[in-house]
Amino acid sequence: MSREAAASLRVPRYLGVDAAQILTAFPDPVLVVGSSGLVEYANAAAEQFFDASTATFLGRPLSDLVPADSPLFALLANVRRSGHSVSEYAVTLETPRLGSHVVTIQAAPLSEAADRLVVTLQERSIAHKIDRQLTHRNAARSVTGMAAMLAHEVKNPLSGIRGAAQLLEESLGHADRELTRLICDEADRIVALVDRMEVFSDRRPLERGPVNIHEVLNRVRLVAQSGFARHVHFVEDYDPSLPPVYGNRDALIQALLNLVKNAAEAVPAQTGEIQVSTAYQHGVRLAVSGTDARLHLPLVVEVADNGEGIPEDLRPHLFDPFVTTKHNGTGLGLALVAKVIDDHGGVIEFESQPRRTVFRLFLPTMSSEGKK
Ligand SMILES: Nc1ncnc2c1ncn2[C@@H]1O[C@H](COP(=O)(O)OP(=O)(O)OP(=O)(O)O)[C@@H](O)[C@H]1O
Ligand SMILES: [Mg+2]
Repeated sequence: MSREAAASLRVPRYLGVDAAQILTAFPDPVLVVGSSGLVEYANAAAEQFFDASTATFLGRPLSDLVPADSPLFALLANVRRSGHSVSEYAVTLETPRLGSHVVTIQAAPLSEAADRLVVTLQERSIAHKIDRQLTHRNAARSVTGMAAMLAHEVKNPLSGIRGAAQLLEESLGHADRELTRLICDEADRIVALVDRMEVFSDRRPLERGPVNIHEVLNRVRLVAQSGFARHVHFVEDYDPSLPPVYGNRDALIQALLNLVKNAAEAVPAQTGEIQVSTAYQHGVRLAVSGTDARLHLPLVVEVADNGEGIPEDLRPHLFDPFVTTKHNGTGLGLALVAKVIDDHGGVIEFESQPRRTVFRLFLPTMSSEGKK
């Protein structure tokens, strides 16, 4: 590292630890790349990642470590041009020496002059979560045909059965009427279930426009607190300056209601808490599996709860229809959320551990749509 670079990396001591120690201990690779593309700093994790000691690559071009056609270079050029930090998920870094790694790259100008950049690589990236998310999309789609079939094959005969039961009722004594009521109630229940499934067979593109996400969240909270979440404490952390989502208001309400309902059903009876937050993330682009396209989904909505967490065995199939642990659950709640977010071109992911389960939605804004 040049003396100048070393000087710019020197940071005041805090709590008796200096920045160099922090960077050495930091588990993700961190690099500093100078204006001419030379590697000026690498932490211990970077040495390990590139399987080379700094002695061999400091002061050498980054292209010694990463093939010159790697998307990493376009990303660095992007940071230099814009002067902003940029993240890119699901970037494949591949060399004969490294093998193939799928990483999240984050790069930012190190100082005001964007000639020196700091780059971090994260291996346990969101990338594979997004791949999983795309599988969830397929899961939502797989139920489509079945929903259409059910609607057709079940609803019509059911209305016949219900009508017949009602006719019978008129000629029955009191005791037997209970049975015809049972037939009607059960028929209604199945129709309601099929109705819920019918949304899946609707393949029309969503009607979308500017939607104020906070207005959506206020509505969801109102519905929740006057019903199923009466016992739960709500914490809201909203970024009031967010631009409108490019979305469908009713569908977003439905999806968020499902998430909040699950959260309310998961939290402890006495100390239940649901946190809803919104934020804007600059420069985050998500890869779309199977294509080169990258989505710009800057608006993030989180629904977090302090329940026991999602059972481990459920996780790989969480968004599949009919996956449920609840006595009266249909297991369609999250499948519907996945479909709604898919229809918005958005992404959903979750993290779960005891006392903290988070569902995170990434959504397009009105302005990001145009720039895709
Ligand atoms: N916040 C959460 N905390 C813990 N487990 C969850 C959470 N959200 C979902 N789950 C688990 O995922 C399963 C599927 O959820 P989903 O909303 O699809 O169906 P459901 O809630 O069981 O039924 P329905 O939504 O029809 O009432 C739930 O049964 C539950 O086991
Ligand atoms: Mg549910």
